[in-house]
Amino acid sequence: MNTEKSRQLFEEAKKYIPGGVNSPVRAFKSVGGDPLFIKRGLGSNIYDVDENAFIDYVGSWGPHIFGHNPSFIKEALLSAIENGTSFGAPTELEAKVAKLITELIPSVEMVRMVNSGTEATMSAVRVARGFTRKEKIIKFEGCYHGHADFFLIKAGSGALTLGVPTSPGVTKGNAVDTLIADFNNIDSVKQLIRTNRNEIAAVIIEAIVGNMGVVKANDYFIKQLRDLCDEEKIVLIIDEVMTGFRVAKGGAQEILDVKADLCTFGKIIGGGLPVGAFGGKKEIMEMVSPSGPVYQAGTLSGNPLAMSAGYSALSYIKDHPNLYKELEEKSAYLEEGIKENLKLLNKKLTINRVGSMLTLFFTEEEVIDFRSAVKSDTKLYGKYFHEMLERGIYLPPAQFEAFFISTAHSKEDLDKTIKANYEALGEILK
Ligand SMILES: Cc1ncc(COP(=O)(O)O)c(C=O)c1O
Repeated sequence: MNTEKSRQLFEEAKKYIPGGVNSPVRAFKSVGGDPLFIKRGLGSNIYDVDENAFIDYVGSWGPHIFGHNPSFIKEALLSAIENGTSFGAPTELEAKVAKLITELIPSVEMVRMVNSGTEATMSAVRVARGFTRKEKIIKFEGCYHGHADFFLIKAGSGALTLGVPTSPGVTKGNAVDTLIADFNNIDSVKQLIRTNRNEIAAVIIEAIVGNMGVVKANDYFIKQLRDLCDEEKIVLIIDEVMTGFRVAKGGAQEILDVKADLCTFGKIIGGGLPVGAFGGKKEIMEMVSPSGPVYQAGTLSGNPLAMSAGYSALSYIKDHPNLYKELEEKSAYLEEGIKENLKLLNKKLTINRVGSMLTLFFTEEEVIDFRSAVKSDTKLYGKYFHEMLERGIYLPPAQFEAFFISTAHSKEDLDKTIKANYEALGEILK
């Protein structure tokens, strides 16, 4: 594969942008090699600057549920741009998007739009703290909620030791207020609540995780977590930045039959533009300024272009409920194909899938939490990634991520992917 132009652009970018990229996973560090620079995308395909074509399973890390550049979103954007790009004043579409979200997600009564998933989760935590007048939060090891300082904390070495920052620049003070529990382990949550009685404002969780690879909360765990939060007057924040409108029309909350007090969105709700949102119970959301005292703001929040792309994406979802059946069928077909390949090769790997999010873990063991996820052989995943890339399949350049399937993936695309998977696994698992 000729990747000369990508290589040159990467060298140039590295002179002016740290690591040559604007978000670290794009640099291919965990799979090795240099990143490809992408020029355009259409449907299930992306094309790099050297005109190599790939069937894409990254989909901009989730937003492209209809594939790349669907005509209805493109038309909405072209029409919106005729009127200007930003006013910093209210526009009609903002309330229409917010209303649509409340119609589609039963736990959401009010919404505030922001510009990214990080802003959404960061703001939701501030609102939960303002509402409860408590300061600590519980998050789960392996869940990612964006890069706000107080999320960049991991568990300390002992169960009761303080968390530690995962990045220089994050203060020890942040670590004091973020407690880390084990995913799918309700006892670890109970223990933290016991030792920090009446101090916990919120529990934040990816109820279906995408960020340690795909891992679903089990029914017992999520129901217990909901009950515990009710009993202890803790705000339950379900982070649906990745799963919202992806795993089901009603997100992870629909699949797990649970209602959050607050939840966060991003990715799909922006139709590929930079958007995030947080929303939930009216009584909590009314704490947000200017209706309440919790400050939250944004110059470009509710931006007309972003709102028009988001409105067309969400309207399409509302008007085409069969979309999720189609995604389920396509994704199950891919999963079955990979499983069949493993059988033919007489190898065992773990596949976790929820709807159109799938992870092939390079471990034989069941993956139910962070500890089991990190047993995966990430070096082997790197080899697999490159074998697939050579065969025209663009997968996430990191083991602990999800493949995203879109409605634009055709049976031919899936068959090509399954064939490439057979060859790639055969090559690396010799
Ligand atoms: C579950 C979850 N929350 C929050 C974020 C942060 O979103 P953003 O990258 O838009 O800031 C992400 C990003 O992937 C995510 O997957």
